[in-house]
Amino acid sequence: MSKQWQGLIKEYAEFLPVSDKTPIVSLGEGGTPLVYACKLSDALKNQVWLKVEGMNPTGSFKDRGMTVAISKAAEAGAKAVICASTGNTSASASAYAIKAGMKSAVLVPDGKIAMGKLAQAVVHGATLLQVAGNFDDCLVLAQELSENYPVSLVNSVNPDRIEGQKTAAFEVVDVIGEAPDIHVLPVGNAGNITAYWAGYREYFDKSFAKQKPAMWGFQAAGAAPIVDGAKVDNPETIATAIRIGNPASWKQAIAARDESGGLIDKVTDDEILAAYHYLASQEAIFVEPASAAGLAGLFKMQKENKLPTGKNIVITVTGNGLKDPQWALAGAEAAIKIPAKAEEAAIALGLI
Ligand code: F0G
Repeated sequence: MSKQWQGLIKEYAEFLPVSDKTPIVSLGEGGTPLVYACKLSDALKNQVWLKVEGMNPTGSFKDRGMTVAISKAAEAGAKAVICASTGNTSASASAYAIKAGMKSAVLVPDGKIAMGKLAQAVVHGATLLQVAGNFDDCLVLAQELSENYPVSLVNSVNPDRIEGQKTAAFEVVDVIGEAPDIHVLPVGNAGNITAYWAGYREYFDKSFAKQKPAMWGFQAAGAAPIVDGAKVDNPETIATAIRIGNPASWKQAIAARDESGGLIDKVTDDEILAAYHYLASQEAIFVEPASAAGLAGLFKMQKENKLPTGKNIVITVTGNGLKDPQWALAGAEAAIKIPAKAEEAAIALGLI
């Protein structure tokens, strides 16, 4: 009989801030596929794997942090949680809150989150506040509310979120047998790059890995405060998940970059969309636009002759493409309409 993955808290309990007293709130998150990308490996002249985080229960890596944050909130007796979000955190928080029997409130930038993510918050019964402002404004509001009212903050400024998210680095090492040479991922609020770096360091310190990767992060060009060295007041990108001008974990991202000998660079929306279509059409992995920023960055580095060869590279693709399908359909050819007749179908398919 095959054994079902137990959710990341049970699988990695010894590395997480939980005890026998922690009520574990899980939807079976983690244990996501690390898919070897054959065509991409050829194209980039490296061994490239994709860590497919869209396979988590609510379709993004946020579930890793949320299972720990909500479990700890439950342990502390919380009745309600709050978060600011570009969409995925709110989808995850509202789902895990339901599982824990809590209420959730989510603050999102009005008109700037993908429809699938909005649907998730609504269907899980979150109280949804659409704020006239961007993500950064939402985060300030959420922090203020959590300080003054009886609600727990479950954004990645909550250290329990980072603890959960670091387990993705453990999984990479557990599958490949070693840390990769380079780990690539998109950067928005910068919690995830912070979490991966913490995970790789911890596995190295505990001798589960002999090396640590260089961390390569990529922001969207219209929302690249870390790269440009200044807050962005009006961030803009089609990759709404990373449309962030003042990342909460800015300092930690710089530390991850510098301690790992890595880099943080930016990619344009066109580069993001090209990588997005490459992943879907060449590697059969359908991601949301923000998730393609890492690969876009690798293509950019290759073009600029800054990509080494023969290395082990892992790219985290952070969220499922079904959350934001408009970019798959944009510019696509119109469907062929036919009567329900085999011969007409055969003609349309070029079979006769
Ligand atoms: N990719 C996706 C799909 C995301 O949803 C996010 C962040 C990131 C990448 C960037 O990760 O913030 O840890 O650097 N989404 C947050 C949200 C901000 O509210 O869902 P990060």
